[in-house]
Formats: sequence, C-alpha cells, structure tokens
Amino acid sequence: MSAVRRIALVGLPGSGKSTVAPLVAERLGWEAVDLDSEIAVTSGRSPATVIATEGEAFFRDLELTALEGALRRPGPQVIACGGGLITQAAARRLLTELCTVVWLDAPDEVLIERLGAGAGRPLLGGSAAAGIPRLRGSRARAHQVSHVRISAEDSPDTVASRVIAALDGTVRVNLAERSYHVEVRAGALEDVALHIPGSATRVALLADRAVRPVSDRLVASLRSAGIAMTVLQVSGGEALKTWEEAGRLLDCLGTAGLQRNDCVVALGGGTVGDLAGFVAATYLRGIAWVNVPTTLLAMVDSAIGGKTGVNLARGKNLAGAIWQPRAVICDPDVLASQDDRSFRSAFAEIVKYSMIVEMPQPAALDGQLGRLLNKDLEALTEVIRACCAAKSGFVARDEREGAARAVLNYGHTVGHALEAASGLGGGLLHGEAVAVGMRAAGVLSIRTLGCPAAEIGWQDEMIERCGLATTSVFDPERVLGYMGADKKHVGDRLGWVLLEARGRPQIGQHVAEAEVRAALDAVLAR
Ligand SMILES: NC(=O)c1ccc[n+]([C@@H]2O[C@H](COP(=O)([O-])OP(=O)(O)OC[C@H]3O[C@@H](n4cnc5c(N)ncnc54)[C@H](O)[C@@H]3O)[C@@H](O)[C@H]2O)c1
Ligand SMILES: [Zn+2]
Repeated sequence: MSAVRRIALVGLPGSGKSTVAPLVAERLGWEAVDLDSEIAVTSGRSPATVIATEGEAFFRDLELTALEGALRRPGPQVIACGGGLITQAAARRLLTELCTVVWLDAPDEVLIERLGAGAGRPLLGGSAAAGIPRLRGSRARAHQVSHVRISAEDSPDTVASRVIAALDGTVRVNLAERSYHVEVRAGALEDVALHIPGSATRVALLADRAVRPVSDRLVASLRSAGIAMTVLQVSGGEALKTWEEAGRLLDCLGTAGLQRNDCVVALGGGTVGDLAGFVAATYLRGIAWVNVPTTLLAMVDSAIGGKTGVNLARGKNLAGAIWQPRAVICDPDVLASQDDRSFRSAFAEIVKYSMIVEMPQPAALDGQLGRLLNKDLEALTEVIRACCAAKSGFVARDEREGAARAVLNYGHTVGHALEAASGLGGGLLHGEAVAVGMRAAGVLSIRTLGCPAAEIGWQDEMIERCGLATTSVFDPERVLGYMGADKKHVGDRLGWVLLEARGRPQIGQHVAEAEVRAALDAVLAR
C-alpha cells in the first residue's frame, strides 16, 4: 500500500471508527490517531463535556486543530475522525487532500442498536433512534467526499480487514480535493460498488460488448448493492470515439433520467474510457464517473489522468475535457480475454514509461517480458501498479499539461500522426503507432540531444521483443501533414519530447524540419 500514507476513517456515530482505526494501524505498523482522545488529553475534558458546556462550534475548532496537529506528524497514520469533523469545509479539504478518506457505513438499525439509548452523545439529542437518521441526512453530502465506502456491519476485525484489502495495491492520484485512487488487484472488479457515490440513485454503465461476461457480472454486483442500473452497450475501438456517438450516449443518459448526483461507469478499453469520461464531463455540465479499464493499455495509461474526448476529422482527441474519475479499478483478471494484438500494443506505453522515468520496473522489464506477454497475473499486477504510480506522479504535478505531464507524450507526436494517417479506427492501433513514434523520437534524441545510442537501442529492442513493428509503411509527406494537426505540435508551443538519456526527458524541443524528415526516413518504409 506504498502510495497510501494516511487513512482517515469517517462515519456516523456507532460505525466503529475508534475501534477499527487501531486495528488497521496495528496490522500496517502505522500510527493510530484518535482525534477525540487527543482533544480529551489537550482540553482535559471529554468531547461530550466540551460540547455540552462550550457548544458545538467551539468543539469543532478544537477538532480542526487536533487534525492539523496530527497531520503535521511525519509517518503513515490511521486517523479515527469524530463523526462531525467532515461537516467542516476546512477539515474536508485537509482530509481529501492529505488522506485516503474511508467512510465506514452501516444501516441505521445497526448503528442505533450499537449506540443503545445514545446516552453521552449530545449531538444525538438524547435518542439514537431519532438522532442517527437525522445526522445521516445532514451529513450525507459531506460523506460523499470519501474515497472509499466500506460496510461496517460486521465485527471490527472484519471491517479492518476490509479496509486493508480495499486499499491494498492502491495508487493514489494526488489532486487536492479531486484526489482519487487506482485499485490494481485481481478480483478488484467486485469492489466497484464501493466507489459509486452514495448520492447516486442511478448508474449508467457504458460497457464494451467485447467484455459482455464481465459486464454481466458487474451489473449483477452493482444491482445486488441496491444500485439502479442503465446499461448501454458500445463497440470498443477507435471508430467509437466520435462526436455523434458522444451525442447519442448523452441523449441516452437524458432518457434514462440521470441526475446531477448520479454516476457513469466506463467498462472497456481506452476508447470506451475516453468517450464515457467525455460524456460524464459534459452531461449536466459534469457528473461523477468511475473508470473500469479492461485492456492493458487502458490500465497502464489511459484510465488515469482525466483526459477524455473524441476524435475529429482532422485528428485524434481534438475535442475533449479534463474530467477526473472518482476512482479507477484495474482487475488484471479481465485481460485474459484480450486479443494478442491489442494486448501487445500496450507494451509501447510500458516501454515509454521505462524510457521517461526511472522506476524500479524498467530494469526488470527485460527479465519479466516473457511472463508479461504470457499474461502472468502477478507480473501484470506489478507492471500496472508501477505504470499507474509513474503516471499519477506526472498528473499530480501538472493536471492540465502545462509542462511536466507533457513528457507522457514521448513518441506521440509521430504516433498520433501515423494513427490519423492510417485512418482512425481502420489502421494502426494507438500503441502500434506510438511504438513507431518512439523509434522516431529515439532517432531525434540521439541526433539532437546526444542521448546514448545504446539506450535507444534498448528501447527499440524491447519494442521488437514485444512483437511491435519499429517501422511502418507511409508517405512521409502525409505524416508531416498530420503532425501539423497534432495539438502538441501546433504553433510549436510544446515542441517535441526527446530524451537526454533514459529517464531524462526534455519537453519543448524544437527540431528543424530536415531532422524530422530524416527521422521519418529512418522509421517509414516505403
Ligand atoms: N485518455 C488518455 O490519457 C489516453 C492515453 C493513452 C491512450 N488513450 C486512448 O486509448 C485508446 C486505445 O485504447 P485501447 O488500446 O484500450 O483500445 P480499445 O478501447 O479500442 O480496445 C481494443 C479492443 O479490445 C476490445 N476489448 C477491450 N477489452 C477487452 C477484453 N478484456 N477482452 C477482449 N476484448 C477487449 C475492444 O472492444 C477493442 O476492440 C486510443 O483511443 C487512445 O487515444 C487515451
Ligand atoms: Zn498513448
């Protein structure tokens, strides 16, 4: 759980926050923090006494100070929050920005039974039976900021195990109050319901027909969690990412009666995710969405970062929005049915990460390649986590691609042009085009930035070993024409992403046209 460093447990009175927090902390070897106990120590009185004598507002100030104090301490923590803490905007901001917020939830009857008469809890107004439903209503919106919702109906030990399991192998995308988590785990599909906002009364599932059995399972699991579903089947592939299809789906959401508080779930490859995210971004000016990628390329790359959109006649992804999902759920089990060609295309992005960042995985990639190509679950889980961690780092630093995030476009200037030139949806797959694009960028990196040829040699060898072509048959003039339409190239604002060395990318590189032609000559067979 390396990427999650602080867990904050929130929930109504009786949900077990104070009991579960130390159990989770002990198992993880982290610090357990109980804000109510800290207040009792610093103020010398119990929270109930403080509220009864000084009023709730005074207590909320103490609570916020206690939270700030705890968050200043280094090291990983599991924090049991007072039930009302999350109602304060300032506390909510701190919690969502700095913690993984886990909402422990159980039905009213369970909470009421646990609390007995509710004695000693002034905010329940003396009666748990009347107080719990009232608090649930008034705190409903505040609880929506939670990153994960866990059922707190069972024993504290079971609930603690559930919290740990839900966050195991999770990568956190740090984007202030829009932070979210990427779950990467075989079997994670079962957890999608945990990430649907509690406010949603209906979920529209946009599912790729190619994963029908997976989508049936997902629908059954969401329905059994009491969620009303509208299922919209689409055919994944580049040809799906059109303005017309986006419009058709938007109308379907309207017909199904989706409201602002409802949610879209995308189930499919990168094309379904890009389109569904765009539909979620524009419907009613933006509703929540959860991305459940089903291809390796979508898991290692496209599902994270919130870039959504459709293609235009002039080229790839030319209309879209940045709209972050609430969560991304990667279950490598679903890759079993992916066909070899599109599965292999993802390795272009995996090799890309190995070239642009220093992560533990590049060195291992040579050794792991056989296992990865054989869809070994453990190897896949590891590589997906490593790529997600790398990508989320860039996205967190630069959500709207001012600079840092642009390094992810290594190989994409030529890649996108090839994809467009090959006819979107009919020719090269995204990864196949990027593989050739990286070759071209490699040639330019050696010639213009003095990147060691052996490092580019490693890149080219990996691409070949993944079964991806390093050359493509195209007329360079056509490719150059499409490069003019690439957003990254227009006006030379960002220029090229090239490598000084492996792990040392440089953005905004301006390259003379003659050099570009020479690089294309090296990678385009005629
Ligand atoms: N948003 C981003 O940041 C970002 C980043 C990289 C790529 N992308 C986009 O991602 C798209 C490519 O994604 P992709 O490679 O996943 O393509 P894709 O969505 O077209 O999926 C490839 C094929 O596999 C099928 N499929 C999907 N999951 C399957 C499964 N589990 N079993 C069997 N078949 C399955 C699909 O129906 C499709 O035919 C491109 O449009 C690219 O522009 C976006
Ligand atoms: Zn890409």
